[in-house]
Amino acid sequence: MDSPLRPELFDFHGVGMVHYFTDNWENIQNFQARPDDILIATYPKAGTTWVSYILDLLYFGQTSPERQTSMPIYERVPFLEICVPTFESGKDLADRLPTTPRLIKTHLPVQFVPKSFWEQNCRVVYVARNAKDCAVSYFHFGRMNSAQPEPGDWSNFLQLFMEGKVVFGSWYDHVNNWWEKKQTFSNIHYMCYEDITEDSAREIDRLCSFLGLSPSAEEKQRVAAGVTFDAMKQNKRTNYSNTPCMNQKVSPFMRKGKVGDWKNHFTVAQNEHFDEDYKQKMKNPALQFRTEV
Ligand code: PPS
Repeated sequence: MDSPLRPELFDFHGVGMVHYFTDNWENIQNFQARPDDILIATYPKAGTTWVSYILDLLYFGQTSPERQTSMPIYERVPFLEICVPTFESGKDLADRLPTTPRLIKTHLPVQFVPKSFWEQNCRVVYVARNAKDCAVSYFHFGRMNSAQPEPGDWSNFLQLFMEGKVVFGSWYDHVNNWWEKKQTFSNIHYMCYEDITEDSAREIDRLCSFLGLSPSAEEKQRVAAGVTFDAMKQNKRTNYSNTPCMNQKVSPFMRKGKVGDWKNHFTVAQNEHFDEDYKQKMKNPALQFRTEV
């Protein structure tokens, strides 16, 4: 039976949303970013937790090792727009983060990002993941998370995904509009889940050059070892265990962590239909995603 908590999707300025992400809207829009804040922006299920943990370890793994055992990742890297009853809002958590820099997570489409992040010229790490694996991961997330609308069966969800009728709206608009923003705002590092899967050490190096960090080789190795899928799945601070709205028996938050799991879900007909639709929506030749590595 469905949990009574499951929210309805509604159109919010042209983007599918649920009230958990719009209830605190004015406060979110008025969020006061600081110049050294780092915003981790993603479409849901693109590797947000992975990159959040990489950044957390790079900045604080050495200086505050106690953070790794005392605080879950969603407290270390607050989710700016979240506002659920009985929990402190993401905005309030971000406001009282004692760290420098503050690492802040958002799934907002670029047009909804509070303007202070642009005014303060904050660094932004945008993580994108290919649409097919994102859709699969989002489907299972909807099954296990009662704070998401009911996803229905896979074919139903895939259709909603293609139409952008999911929380945070169209994947296609999200990745394209953030890509466009990068052309005019130089402080965006646009990275892909598939590239991290292929070579996490290389991607950590690229992140470090963007952030102006120069950790030792040992430190980088420590970070790379700490952020493998298996390590994060075992780690109670990164696997979202004890999150009340998530039923990890239905599907674990750290589910598969693979590129290409879409092949286990898409039928041949679904794949052809998806590819046809994709061509119409993804016309920028500079923005290419890999669906296998
Ligand atoms: S959320 O809820 O939007 O913040 O989710 P997000 O963290 O963006 O995405 C969750 C998916 O990322 C996978 N993941 C990883 N893959 C490989 N290596 C590591 N270390 C890793 N950490 C998280 C996670 O398993 C989800 O993908 P799926 O395909 O569902 O397994």
